[in-house]
Amino acid sequence: MKTILITGASTGFGRALATEALNRGHQVALAVRNPESVADLVAQYPGKAFAIEFDLTKPADAELAVKETLEQFGRLDVLINNAGYGLLAALEESTDEQLARNLETNFTGPFRLIRAVLPVMRAQHSGHVITMSAIAAYANHPGFAVYGGAKAALDATCDAASQEAAPLGIKFTQVIPGPFRTDFIGRSLDHGARIPDYEGTVGKFGGFLSKMDGKQPGDPAKAASAILDLLDAEKPPSRLLIGGYAHTIFAKKLASMEAEMNAWKEKGQSTDFSAGA
Ligand SMILES: NC(=O)c1ccc[n+]([C@@H]2O[C@H](COP(=O)([O-])OP(=O)(O)OC[C@H]3O[C@@H](n4cnc5c(N)ncnc54)[C@H](OP(=O)(O)O)[C@@H]3O)[C@@H](O)[C@H]2O)c1
Repeated sequence: MKTILITGASTGFGRALATEALNRGHQVALAVRNPESVADLVAQYPGKAFAIEFDLTKPADAELAVKETLEQFGRLDVLINNAGYGLLAALEESTDEQLARNLETNFTGPFRLIRAVLPVMRAQHSGHVITMSAIAAYANHPGFAVYGGAKAALDATCDAASQEAAPLGIKFTQVIPGPFRTDFIGRSLDHGARIPDYEGTVGKFGGFLSKMDGKQPGDPAKAASAILDLLDAEKPPSRLLIGGYAHTIFAKKLASMEAEMNAWKEKGQSTDFSAGA
């Protein structure tokens, strides 16, 4: 049995992860903006499920969530940095307020939470930080300049932190989903003001998202099961792609990046000092 802190446990991946973790016998701290949204889980799993009022945009909440988890359960084995939301807007359509809130939610807030759990995991010489990234961090779409940028920043942060923490017994995994059937495209998606010149790019992608809402190929319950299986893995992956869509897009991106690197290798490699210089 592990003690797991999950952010954004109200709906979607977070709720599926919380439900699956509780079914498997783990203790779960449910960090949510509105504790009422998980009252059913707390009632269903007395002593095992515990709600914490938590908002990623409030800097003090990270330390508080860790403190409350330790007070309730006495330890913290796994952080699932799940909460987040998308912003559909061309770069120049986003406002400062939208940019700040999205970065705070998708990058700075999760960063603070990782920083808050590390001392606990260092003292235990064990722990696992699992972060919900997005395929947009690796192969982005028009309209996700802010969202994909925030997720890519978190990816690079986890890449560094995982190398810092590995000798201390702490594992990191970034989970990379394509479209999954959650509230992500519906109630959670923020929108920028529309500039007609972006209809053919951002507007088209927005139309694709709207049409996909409710029909996304990814099943959050199956994702939760695959993600929680990682807790038993001797060597969990640093990145886990989930869903067929993410696999296809990621493979295409890798192939096109490799082809471009090779096509321009001579030019790019010519920039080192000559040997012995
Ligand atoms: N579904 C997909 O297709 C997809 C694809 C790639 C990546 N992801 C990532 O998966 C993660 C979970 O999203 P989801 O798909 O499960 O969508 P969701 O059903 O909309 O869930 C989003 C969760 O994040 C919480 N949240 C949003 N802002 C918050 C804040 N400031 N502080 C604390 N919690 C906050 C929401 O809480 P409230 O209930 O209070 O709003 C909700 O619990 C996100 O990081 C998302 O970027 C999803």
